[in-house]
Amino acid sequence: MANTISVGLLGLGTVGSGVIEIINRHQEELRHQVGSTVSVKKVLVQNLNKKRAVDVDANALTTTVEDIIENPEIDVVIEVMGGIQVAKEYILTALRNKKHVVTANKDLMALHGAELLQVASENECDLFYEASVAGGIPIIRGLVDGLSSDRITKIMGIVNGTTNYILTKMSKFGSSYNEVLKEAQELGFAESDPTSDVEGLDAARKMAILASLGFSMEVSLEDVIVRGITTVTEEDLKYSEQLGYTMKLIGIAKRKEGRVEVSVQPMLLPNEHPLAAVNDEFNAVYVYGEAVGETMFYGPGAGSLPTATAIVSDLVAVMKNLRLGVNGHAVPAPLHEKKLKTDEEIESKYFLRLLVTDEAGTFSAITSLFAKHGVSFEKLLQLPVEGREVAEVIIITHTTSRKTYEDIYNALNELGVVQSVESSYRVEGGQ
Ligand code: HSE
Repeated sequence: MANTISVGLLGLGTVGSGVIEIINRHQEELRHQVGSTVSVKKVLVQNLNKKRAVDVDANALTTTVEDIIENPEIDVVIEVMGGIQVAKEYILTALRNKKHVVTANKDLMALHGAELLQVASENECDLFYEASVAGGIPIIRGLVDGLSSDRITKIMGIVNGTTNYILTKMSKFGSSYNEVLKEAQELGFAESDPTSDVEGLDAARKMAILASLGFSMEVSLEDVIVRGITTVTEEDLKYSEQLGYTMKLIGIAKRKEGRVEVSVQPMLLPNEHPLAAVNDEFNAVYVYGEAVGETMFYGPGAGSLPTATAIVSDLVAVMKNLRLGVNGHAVPAPLHEKKLKTDEEIESKYFLRLLVTDEAGTFSAITSLFAKHGVSFEKLLQLPVEGREVAEVIIITHTTSRKTYEDIYNALNELGVVQSVESSYRVEGGQ
């Protein structure tokens, strides 16, 4: 293997600058692990004259992508520019030119990962993407290497920092979603257009990647059922807390008898669940394996240096493979054909908050409806609403199928004593 590994960087924003900083700072550790020096030969930027946050050789900067992806001197391309179509083309060209690729691009990997990995394998190149899920947490390597001998049955993730920050603050200060979002935007914790975070799409992309790896099955974004946090109210959080639960935006992927379900939604976790203690902008991924039992990976899900750590660790993995001459074989093709659970097979407990008429017979009408569908209550709370002839009823059901739950939900809306179904969430536990 060459004494120096030459890297081309596509993009020099927050994460790209972090990559340069870690490579510059950690040369000694890198050389110790793989026996070579790392040199950032070329960096693709939009503006050659912009002032940079990191120390980078002006001669390395280029606005011409071919200087990197067609350059025979470059061994590894690191893609940190984002976007989908253009990034995909650049990565495909780099792979076809026998360059190993490291990317942080979850949007791209969630949508086109299978195709890109196939091209990488055909060209005997590595394509690593640790930074695409949960920033600095080494969860992909945790699944692919650390837990490779086990059979994983459940992955639950708090994989979006923005929404975890918002829910934590709403819960702590009793504030509304809109108040906290505004404050989070002012502090730079939320994007000015937060749609993909708050609607759950960012988390869904990450869960498609984790489920594919954890279950060795090609799970795509369309397979993920998604609901965001925009309709969560401070009352929902208050009642969850009173009943001993914490609300989090949870990505959940489960496998039972060969069938899988993957979804992202605000979900109630019992306070003693390890994910219930993950607050503010932190991420965590809980993995259950048949043999190992419960494990949890916790850390920063974004940020320049944490994300760059994951990228440079991928670079180290490429270099180790180069030394052994085994690039392009890190992740085997999926072992299992995709089989999704049906609505009857997706099981959960549910939280429901209802406004009901405060009169005799109301409770019996509600309990009869649940009994008719064979679903019993785990917890129940009734509170009068001051100055009104209505009461608030909060129910946590026992486990039932999604199909049965939807039938109950629709029937509740038709029931005379129920004025409105104010909210409804899945509750984790027990299965
Ligand atoms: N927007 C993401 C988050 C970070 O809030 O966690 C990048 O994946």
